[in-house]
Order: sequence, then structure tokens, then C-alpha cells
Amino acid sequence: MGMIARWIAERVPVSAEQVRELTNEPVPNHMKRWWFALGGTPAYLFVVQIVTGILLAIYFQPSTATAYESVRFINEELPYGWYFRSLHKWAATLMIAAVILHQTRVYFTGAYRRPRELNWMIGMALLLTSLGLGFTGYSLVFEQLSYWGATVGGNIMDNVPLVGGTLKHYLLAGDVYNEKTLPRFYILHAAVLPGTLVVLIVVHIMLVRLHGVTELQFEDEPADKPTHFSFYPDHMATELLLGLVLMVILSALATIYPAMMGPPADPLSTPDVIKPEWFFYATFRWLKLFGPTFAVLSMGFIVCAMFLWPWIDRVLRRVTGMPEASVYFGIAAAFALIGLTVWEAVVAH
Ligand code: HEM
Repeated sequence: MGMIARWIAERVPVSAEQVRELTNEPVPNHMKRWWFALGGTPAYLFVVQIVTGILLAIYFQPSTATAYESVRFINEELPYGWYFRSLHKWAATLMIAAVILHQTRVYFTGAYRRPRELNWMIGMALLLTSLGLGFTGYSLVFEQLSYWGATVGGNIMDNVPLVGGTLKHYLLAGDVYNEKTLPRFYILHAAVLPGTLVVLIVVHIMLVRLHGVTELQFEDEPADKPTHFSFYPDHMATELLLGLVLMVILSALATIYPAMMGPPADPLSTPDVIKPEWFFYATFRWLKLFGPTFAVLSMGFIVCAMFLWPWIDRVLRRVTGMPEASVYFGIAAAFALIGLTVWEAVVAH
């Protein structure tokens, strides 16, 4: 052993055998297919968000008086500022899409069932935190839609029974959007929510590592072929390749469809059409269909049911006697979600 290696081994007493043991989890063959290994995609995109977010934070000035102008400067004058801002916006969109797709695959393969119920709940917290990051990020530019989007968000919170007024007050730092609101969104977007996401991802992956990935039976897999492959280097290589492909796609999207600037916020003029980001379309349409009180209560109920789904699923299967009950339920829910999203996307109001 060389002098440097001995120096390190004395200070970091971890043996090569222990590292091999830690990284060499055998992974079931189905994880060679990208749609089964989708969990790595949001993790990769989150790293892109952190890097591009830090670059943007160097120039962004989080106050109602300066935010819009600082984003305009990044977009129009800072060398490559438009590119990093566009990467940040596109990676946010793709990250939320990847989280939804990953959750969909976990759902339809029943990978949330015993003993992985807790990890499903941590996944739900990951979904809500990612959506929170999308919402607060959208509100930072101080465009018309940032201002009115945050105002609508505050009004939705106001409809939560008992604690609604307090929640709205905490979110907006007052009863209406004011000069303290934007710095509050910034702290949430750049510190509280990413920090929460890091902790949740670490616990999530730790539990995946402890349980191993759910074993799935495929009828077309020959019995004489190995059923597992090694995490390192095989799975790592797949993830790295995926990361490279994603970087090319992201870069192309950012260049072909760069992030634009809307008109600056004007509290005195309500825009004709207020639309949130696409991942809130279904919620927004639900709100328009049923009015704030029913919509908020029913959405709260749906989110609670999603958290508790592993147990609801168990009861559902026992009561109906159908092992595939959750699949039919999931297909109906997916159609409803896509239907509401497309509906909100195609109509003006
Ligand atoms: C930032 C968001 C997320 C990240 C980075 C992430 C990461 C991962 C990774 C790397 C895996 C290993 C297997 C795979 O790649 O599919 C995994 C598995 C899993 N994830 Fe996530 N995940 C996220 C969100 C979610 C959500 C929203 C849910 C569900 C509500 C969820 C539930 C699960 C479960 C139950 C497993 C175990 C799957 C199995 O055993 O086959 N995750 N996650």
C-alpha cells in the first residue's frame, strides 16, 4: 500500500470489502428496463436543479422591487444566463414528470405493498415537496402569473377548515401578497424544500437498499438465465448513460424552447386568463368544477387516501376478492387525472 493510501486508510477506516458489500446489491433483471428504474431519473434531474439553481441564485435578487429586473438581466444580458435559466425550468418540468411516472410504475407493479408501505409514504412526501418546489419557483419571477398564481394559492389555503386563515397568513406573510411574500417563497424554494427533498431522498434510497427492489415474475424470462445483475458497475453504467441522454434532451429543449419573460406583476390588473404550471392543471380544473370549499376538502381527502393507499389496497382486495382491484382503480384514476389536465389545457377559462 502506498503512503497516501495508508494515510487515508488510517483516517477513514473502511475496507475495500465493506465498500464492495455496500455497492454490490444484486439487482433483479427487470431493472435493466428504463421504466422500471425510473426512480434514478428524478434524482439525477434534482442534481441538475441544484447546480443551475445555485448559478441563478448568484444573480437573482429576491424582492418585489428587484426580482423581475434581475431575471430579465439573467435572461437577456448575462452570458449563457438564458441557457441556465431554461435548463432549470425544463429540468423542473421533467423532474415532476419523472416523479409521476416513477410513482405510476411503483403503483401498477404493487411495489408499495408490505413491507414497503413506509417507503410509499416517504415517496408521497417526495411528490408533495417536488410540487411545492414547482409552485414556489414559478412565483419568484414576479411576472403577472407569479403574482396571481401565488394569490390564488393563498386563497385556496384560506378554504382549509379551521386553520386555513393561519396557513394563508404563513404562506403570504400577510393576508394578501405583499413585499414580504417573495422573500418567503425564496427561502422555501432555495432552502427549506430542497433541504427536505435531500433528507427524504436519502431515507427513501436507504430503505430501497435495505429491502432490495421488489422481485417481479416475468413469464417470458427463461428459467436458465441469471435473474439478477450487479448494481456496480452494471446498473451504475445504465444510470450514467441515462443521465447523458437526459442532458442532451434537456440541452436541446432549453435551446429550442428557451424560458421567456411574461409581463411584470401588476396587482391592480387581473389577467384575463390565470393558469398554473401543467402539473397543477388537474387541481385547478377540479377547483373550477366544484368551488373552493368542496375542492379543498376533497383534495385533502384524496391526498390522505394516497398516503394510506397500501392499507386501503389491502382492505379493497380482501373485500372484493379481486387481487387486481388496485389496477382497475389505478386505470380509472389515471384517466381522470389525464382528462382533467387535458381539459384545463385546451380551454381558456
Ligand atoms: C424525488 C422523487 C423520488 C426519487 C428520487 C425516488 C427514487 C427512487 C429509486 C432510485 C428507487 C429504486 C428503484 C427505481 O429506480 O424505481 C425507488 C423505489 C421506490 N420508490 Fe421512489 N423516488 C421518488 C419518488 C417516489 C414517489 C412519489 C413514490 C410513491 C408515492 C415512490 C415510491 C417508491 C417505492 C415504493 C419504491 C420501491 C420500489 C420497488 O421495490 O420496486 N418514490 N425510488
